[in-house]
Amino acid sequence: MCGIVGYYGPQDPKDVIVSGLKRLEYRGYDSAGVAILNDGKFKVVRAPGKLGELQKKLETEKFNGALGIGHTRWATHGVPNERNAHPHKVNGVSLVHNGIIENYAQIKERLRKDGVEFSSDTDSELVAHLIARKVKDTKDLFKAVQQVLPELTGAYSILVVWEDQPDTMVAFKNGPPLIIGVGEKEAVIASDVQAIISHTKKVMYLEDFEVAKVQGNKIEIFSATGEPRKKEIHQIEWSAEQVEKAGFKHFMLKEIHEQPRAVANAIAPHIRLDSKTVQLKNVGFSVNSLDELAKVDSEKDALATAEKLKGIERIFIVACGTSNYAGMAGKYLLERIAKIPVECDIASEFRYREPVIPPRSLVLVISQSGETADTLAALRLAKQAGATTMSICNVRHSTIDRESHGHLYMNSGAEIGVASTKAFVSTLGILNVFSIYLGRLRQAISEQQEKEFVDALLAAPAQMEAVLAYDRFFAEASGRLKAFRGLLYMGRGINFPLALEGALKLKELAYMHAEGYAAGEMKHGPLALIDERMLIVMVAPHDNHYEKTVSNLEEARARGGKIISIGTGDDPALKGISDFYLSLPKASWTINPILEAIPLQLLAYHVADAMGHDVDQPRNLAKSVTVE
Ligand code: G6P
Repeated sequence: MCGIVGYYGPQDPKDVIVSGLKRLEYRGYDSAGVAILNDGKFKVVRAPGKLGELQKKLETEKFNGALGIGHTRWATHGVPNERNAHPHKVNGVSLVHNGIIENYAQIKERLRKDGVEFSSDTDSELVAHLIARKVKDTKDLFKAVQQVLPELTGAYSILVVWEDQPDTMVAFKNGPPLIIGVGEKEAVIASDVQAIISHTKKVMYLEDFEVAKVQGNKIEIFSATGEPRKKEIHQIEWSAEQVEKAGFKHFMLKEIHEQPRAVANAIAPHIRLDSKTVQLKNVGFSVNSLDELAKVDSEKDALATAEKLKGIERIFIVACGTSNYAGMAGKYLLERIAKIPVECDIASEFRYREPVIPPRSLVLVISQSGETADTLAALRLAKQAGATTMSICNVRHSTIDRESHGHLYMNSGAEIGVASTKAFVSTLGILNVFSIYLGRLRQAISEQQEKEFVDALLAAPAQMEAVLAYDRFFAEASGRLKAFRGLLYMGRGINFPLALEGALKLKELAYMHAEGYAAGEMKHGPLALIDERMLIVMVAPHDNHYEKTVSNLEEARARGGKIISIGTGDDPALKGISDFYLSLPKASWTINPILEAIPLQLLAYHVADAMGHDVDQPRNLAKSVTVE
């Protein structure tokens, strides 16, 4: 969490940094600040609250230097106020930090004994002190950073500048990402490519314990001990337009509407339209690194993938938040289609519960950002245990993408709204593909069944378009819906994770109490919650659970609950017992979750918007959770 931007070049650093921070605000919005060179000194301007507050302060500020750094904060140490906002400046050294310094207490104690006084409550300021003390002797920022590095433990990415070297910025990391944009006579360093793409599409990804030194136009990367590193330059595939709102009121609404395309893009590389079969394209089992993946021989890689996955006897799906709920739906797909046992775990639980990972296990991690700290730790643990690992990421070259053995991609394009939407449905698309692939590989489904599953998947994007029409319904109904005391989301089978995801969306955006439950569990507690102020959202498409789900709904209705039901086609029975009935196109059970996601997202979006909440940046949350 927290977003970092640094710029050296001919443009006004203030403009570049502020527009970069705008694109990184999803990473945290407790405070923001910049340190920009002016008359040979770094002038620091900081403001608590969202970036808009900093922008107001900066309106009248002028800077005449070519170098600056900026930060948008998600508070870890120290309350969100101006004092704790970054950059932290100590004797000419200005620094921005994303992450947590774990040995912060020891460092602080040591500095305090030396008589150092602190101007904030943050762990980040301590690193500025350490570097400021070293640079007195080294007279070189890069050397000072090198000496400080061994003193730090924790997860961090840091960008630092020093007044005595006004053409130099130094970046280093362990954990959270740092990406270096290599422009014509300019360099942009940022936590995410979104802050870079308007300047250049050429980037280098800094690895843990590497140090980047940008001196004028010269960019050099070194190991922590100072050996020069040769880095591959990658081309970013996203365009600058993808990170604009394109006329929508919020990024989230735009992203909801982009979902049919997102699913199409996720599945397209893996489907052979002529034979209606699934092939896993360029998963990377035939190569050792992502750099080689770009040049992989597809045929050879397909064989390597089949070889690797043929012997798998158990799958662990591990993820956080919305990605975890997509993974739960994946469990239903994989078990029913590929007949393979699947466990699905929340990453923060998996990593600490000493999981038994038998040989011949596949650990499949799912992460939109590819940077979620717990998911990354789970991946590393699985590798240590000797498991084969695969990731489903949206952000290419993210840490999880780089570190997993096999790679599948959501291909959703940039997702900016903090609450995940299109990455969720893209993941469901990919999990369909993966289940069909494994089903065939394990001879659990016939050729004919494969064709039917593929047909159903290919029909999904057009069906999703039709469901988007509920946008207007929820825009109109939101006034009434926001008056409920709470919402209870329910579903059975593969629709159960959708109930959980629907409830999560509402919590994240509307800050209302919402619970997701397996409909069969109603009698074991949730029935007691039901009265006329409780809204029940029942996900009840026509599948093999339908009859049972309808009787659960009858029970809820008998207790006075108000009901929104989401069903298939024209369903008079369901309509008859619901206050609002939302009809989805007739689809396979494998595709229903992709369609159901849309009304659930639109409900949360419009209720939150009607309540006046900032939908793209819900309070206390951040999109990329790079600390535990
Ligand atoms: C945060 C975001 C969620 C997201 C979760 C996992 O909590 O706000 O929208 O689902 O992290 O993120 P990941 O990038 O690993 O999918």
